[in-house]
Amino acid sequence: MKRSYGQWWKEAIVYQIYPRSFKDSDGDGIGDLKGIISRLDYIKSLGVTVVWLNPIYSSPNDDNGYDVSDYRNIMKEFGTMADFDALLKGLHARGIKLVMDLVVNHSSDEHEWFRQSRSSRTNPYRNYYHWWNAESGKPPYRYSLFDVNHDAWRYDSLTNAYYLHYFSRKQPDLNWEDPAVRREVFDIMRFWADKGIDGFRLDAFQFVAKDTTWPVWPQGWEEHFMKYYAMGPHLHDYLREMNQEVLSRYPVMSVAEGAGNSFDDAHNLVDEDRKELNMAYAFDAVDIATSEGYSLVHLKEVFTRWDSAFAEKGWLAIFLANHDQARLVSRFGNDRPTFRAVSSKMLSTFLLTMRGTPFYYNGDELGMSNPGFTKISDYRDVATLNEYRHLQNTGGDVAAYLKEIGFSSRDNSRTPMQWDAGVHAGFTRVKPWIGLNPNYSAVNVAAEERDANSCLNYFRRLVRLRKDNPVLVYGKYTLLDKDNPDVYAYTREWKGMKWLVVLNFSSRAVPLPADVSTAGAKLIIDNYAAPGKPGELRAYEAGVYALQ
Ligand code: GLC
Repeated sequence: MKRSYGQWWKEAIVYQIYPRSFKDSDGDGIGDLKGIISRLDYIKSLGVTVVWLNPIYSSPNDDNGYDVSDYRNIMKEFGTMADFDALLKGLHARGIKLVMDLVVNHSSDEHEWFRQSRSSRTNPYRNYYHWWNAESGKPPYRYSLFDVNHDAWRYDSLTNAYYLHYFSRKQPDLNWEDPAVRREVFDIMRFWADKGIDGFRLDAFQFVAKDTTWPVWPQGWEEHFMKYYAMGPHLHDYLREMNQEVLSRYPVMSVAEGAGNSFDDAHNLVDEDRKELNMAYAFDAVDIATSEGYSLVHLKEVFTRWDSAFAEKGWLAIFLANHDQARLVSRFGNDRPTFRAVSSKMLSTFLLTMRGTPFYYNGDELGMSNPGFTKISDYRDVATLNEYRHLQNTGGDVAAYLKEIGFSSRDNSRTPMQWDAGVHAGFTRVKPWIGLNPNYSAVNVAAEERDANSCLNYFRRLVRLRKDNPVLVYGKYTLLDKDNPDVYAYTREWKGMKWLVVLNFSSRAVPLPADVSTAGAKLIIDNYAAPGKPGELRAYEAGVYALQ
């Protein structure tokens, strides 16, 4: 019997944990599940209602767990299934739900399915992956995001054939056209849902559906990468099947990484009547911020466009940072010591006062920033390292690249969580798997616990505010003064209440926008401890007001 489950995920505040960098309990320099368990009270103290864990399944770690070799086991560096059960129990005991990453566009090349599949052309698992027999020549070019040569077809002499990998060569793409693959995935999902987890984040899912007639793509397709790579044929069929087989049978939420190529695509993923997924997150907003900076007017335009497209129907995830992006404050705020804390609080205010479910990345509550790596040996990320080698092999500008990754590499957000000012920031007792941000002696949980105005305590207040005030969850969003280059201001309206959010994204004091008045309004929260001048916003000031 199918039941209808409540939409708790709309009111959720999701805290993303990158397990490798959260807390090491056994002294190998790598975060683990027992480490997370030891910090459950901290997580609870944040007030967040859901934890999303990056992959914790068995993996040779070519891509830090996004290359799964056994979907029903725990990565040995992270612990055991007993640790997982204890973690889930500990979260639930504290009223916190758990969302797991589901990485099924590809598996690891060390997964038993792939071992079988590559062993012979007639193996029953052959069709689990995409193979192209070499007698027919080279397959039509496909771009690999992570490969040194960017060629997504890898020749395997064992059976004289090429296999497809959109990501690294150790991440062969699964063939979703094979119903047996889909059955395997749904079984895996049921395995975890039966354990009582509360949701799935579908990794790179828009890539699962491919045109397996393998047409040669027209010239210029690279410029429209997503159009060719995402939302291929049958994607919605697969999702409906997944919904029928698993999602509708458990009280779980589902969120897709990526929202397709258009609003229509995005709606089709999350439109309730279509019975596919609950939410998707779009990259349009994060993508606009590069090492050259970004335009606030553009950022406002993107968020406003997405909000209005979903105002009547459907629901979105709200985020500006995660384990694949630079640090929130370094990219969208200002990580110089004078402004780091205040701009970080301003950005948290934004994330927690928008319509949509906030996905908030661990460490951002402290205002953690990019670590300032300068040497290629500082980096660990497969994408960063392979691109570096690619440039070396092809005579590219390696020095420029080193500078660029200092801003944009995924490793910027993967440095260890800063717990205290002690050895290795309290993350581990030995050398951590990736270097720490040297600012940990000042920016850390212990220090911020002691400071009532820290980023951490401010974040807690924001979380409380959102939980206590449905106007921030459901309220209609209206952008004010759209062309103001410094200030992002909007109202949220719900059941006769009207709240105003005013955010100064610049490092200067600026006047309040002309069509914004706080006269007579009640100040609900502000990221400066003391009041400023009327009619003016201080550098990176954020204020939330009740107008009605
Ligand atoms: C997603 C993940 C990323 C991973 C990739 C391949 O984009 O967020 O970390 O490398 O998929 O699984």
